[in-house]
Amino acid sequence: MAADSAKTVLITGGAGFIGSNLAERLLEEAGTRVRIFDNLSRRGVRRNLDWLRSKADRTRLEILEADVRDAAAVRRAARDVSEIYHLAAQVAVTTSVTDPRTDFEINAMGTFHVLEAARASGRQPFVLFTSTNKVYGSLEGVPVKVRGTRYVAQSTKFSGVDEGELLDFHSPYGCSKGAADQYVRDYARIYGLDTVVFRMSCIAGPRQFGNEDQGWVAHFLYSVLEGRTITVCGDGFQVRDVLHVHDLIDAMMAVRAARKRTRGQVYNLGGGMSRAVSVVELLRECERRTGMPLRLDYTAVRPGDQPLYISDTHKLESQAGWKARRSIDAILEDIEQFWHQHREAISGESAARAAYLQPSAALEREVA
Ligand SMILES: NC(=O)c1ccc[n+]([C@@H]2O[C@H](COP(=O)([O-])OP(=O)(O)OC[C@H]3O[C@@H](n4cnc5c(N)ncnc54)[C@H](O)[C@@H]3O)[C@@H](O)[C@H]2O)c1
Repeated sequence: MAADSAKTVLITGGAGFIGSNLAERLLEEAGTRVRIFDNLSRRGVRRNLDWLRSKADRTRLEILEADVRDAAAVRRAARDVSEIYHLAAQVAVTTSVTDPRTDFEINAMGTFHVLEAARASGRQPFVLFTSTNKVYGSLEGVPVKVRGTRYVAQSTKFSGVDEGELLDFHSPYGCSKGAADQYVRDYARIYGLDTVVFRMSCIAGPRQFGNEDQGWVAHFLYSVLEGRTITVCGDGFQVRDVLHVHDLIDAMMAVRAARKRTRGQVYNLGGGMSRAVSVVELLRECERRTGMPLRLDYTAVRPGDQPLYISDTHKLESQAGWKARRSIDAILEDIEQFWHQHREAISGESAARAAYLQPSAALEREVA
């Protein structure tokens, strides 16, 4: 590991979709060194590392192939850093249902390891954790009706889900991320760590190897571009608010800059009311954009699936001065461009289902 640590930033899951976009942004800051800690279990993410290596000066980018289930490896990686972005996770609800133990070990225990490593370092690092809207369960308290091709709230006063919504973990993924989310929040209260939790809705954009299990916007667009059949779970009227990954990175930088105000806080984050779209509406948009016909297949709705989820981002906007800037159209444009640049890789990777379930064997290796 690098010896001088004036400003070293640790990104767990840094090879992934959000992590590699974040690493790119941090590497633009003069003097910041980025340490990526990732077990590379997500198919395709080695390509994100190749991309980062091609952009970054080798003295400022360090890559550890390691697993957050390995407490000692996490402690070593965190011992000299000033910021930790904890993104590594088992990310698919479907996988969590088939293997809840592994999901728990990665998401709940892995996060606990990160928090303990931050505490043990004695350096009071800033810690940002990427939680999920799934901690709010299926939102039974928000009754919905169908209007056209989407679910809408029955109440005309609905302006998105805010942080006061009741926690109602649903699905093993919801439970493991929810437990981690509460630990992260509490470490600010009990141990005085500067932690922030983002409860994120749907994030999309370039560098995402979206597949059936996770990353639906990219998965849909890639599938339409490649003429593959898409399986829609439920009626397809489910609504999500979609946020460009670059807007998310702006939000991360904003809460870090406002650290004194944001420490110990939880923020809901997504595209908000103006970037809400239903599954079938997004599919139609992919069809229009590509000129390729849709091939759809329908199956049962997934457990815990929310018919309507839209984030209320006012708290983040007022406390960190952030605002989403990019449209859904810009998101699709950037994903399509990424597909054009990496077409062969994406066809192989995103058509396959995610392969996250690596054995717990301690694995730590410097790969760059
Ligand atoms: N993308 C979204 O829409 C979204 C929404 C809500 C929350 N999140 C959260 O954001 C974070 C990043 O998600 P993403 O979309 O970039 O997913 P991703 O799968 O692209 O990235 C996750 C990374 O973590 C790595 N990883 C998995 N298990 C690991 C382990 N045991 N040890 C070390 N590394 C491991 C993977 O190899 C991958 O590179 C996750 O915590 C996810 O739960 C994402």
